[in-house]
Amino acid sequence: MNSLEAQFEARIAAEDKIEPKDWMPDHYRKTLIRQISQHAHSEIVGMLPEGNWITRAPSLRRKAVLLAKVQDEAGHGLYLYSAAETLGADRDTLINDLHSGKAKYSSIFNYPTLTWADMGAIGWLVDGAAIMNQVPLCRTSYGPYARAMVRVCKEESFHQRQGYEIMLTLCRGSAEQKAMAQDALNRWWAPSLMMFGPKDADSPNTEQSMRWKIKRFSNDELRQKFVDATVPQAEYLGLTIPDPDLKWNEEKMGYDFGELNWEEFYNIVSGNGPCNRQRIQARKKAYDEGKWVREAAMAHAEKMKTRKESQAA
Ligand code: 3HC
Repeated sequence: MNSLEAQFEARIAAEDKIEPKDWMPDHYRKTLIRQISQHAHSEIVGMLPEGNWITRAPSLRRKAVLLAKVQDEAGHGLYLYSAAETLGADRDTLINDLHSGKAKYSSIFNYPTLTWADMGAIGWLVDGAAIMNQVPLCRTSYGPYARAMVRVCKEESFHQRQGYEIMLTLCRGSAEQKAMAQDALNRWWAPSLMMFGPKDADSPNTEQSMRWKIKRFSNDELRQKFVDATVPQAEYLGLTIPDPDLKWNEEKMGYDFGELNWEEFYNIVSGNGPCNRQRIQARKKAYDEGKWVREAAMAHAEKMKTRKESQAA
């Protein structure tokens, strides 16, 4: 290990925040660009399943809340692309990698949103899982990522609460509404657990990411925390978690739960999920249609820059 690497490791051990201009191992930089850019892609693609219900929300209030949430996700994505750029990543390249299928985004966004209850289940479970994963990221060793997560987590808690409120309203409604909530839980429970990634034993990145304090907990640890926190919430709703193997384990003071369908997970991660193609097509269409906006903004920025330079001359 050369002295630069030794100094870097000592800084990580001392809980220093690594900043953009600091020396860092290439692999640390690459890992962060990979994780942060895929996180950003997930936020942007994540707008699509919920965007599908904005025009069909059951009330003006629900429409306004859902609109605010989807807009937040866009902001999270742009925030995270900016964090990736502090590592020298080029935004157009990152977005082309998403469109070409080279870059990943969270598997959860490749499922269809079939009923209004899905908006509740997504807020409650998907944003709930995102919070479980993102709160520790507020302490990740890379400064810009940690700081971005503080802002993101504040908004995620609103996302989770509004989703849980939708589920509560449905569960206190008619028998049909409660059945719709149970159906949504049945379809979104397992995919939400898969958001935490493969089992630790099958994760090629976790060990190094934990050593570099990019990750503060492993995939399985966060998945377990999420299950333990969410089961009582389902009980309060009067809903049944769709896992016959779910059982409280007094010894570990947590729930045992059934094996996930990892074949489904890897199928989706490799692009063969129910909505993968439709999601990427929608992103490509939006990107093409937004070209004039980007060009206008760049032209305006250039004009402002020239005007400032001529005033300074
Ligand atoms: N969907 C798609 N790909 C996944 C995945 C998932 N749910 N979980 C893991 N993968 C991929 C990884 O990206 C990695 O592939 P790569 O090396 O080509 O990037 C491979 O599967 C092996 O997984 P690892 O566990 O070894 O990879 P990581 O150490 O990167 O851990 C992670 C995966 C836990 C998702 C981690 O990257 C992470 O914490 N990312 C930041 C949070 C994030 O991206 N969350 C996604 C959802 S964002 C969201 O929910 C927004 C909210 O507003 C709704």
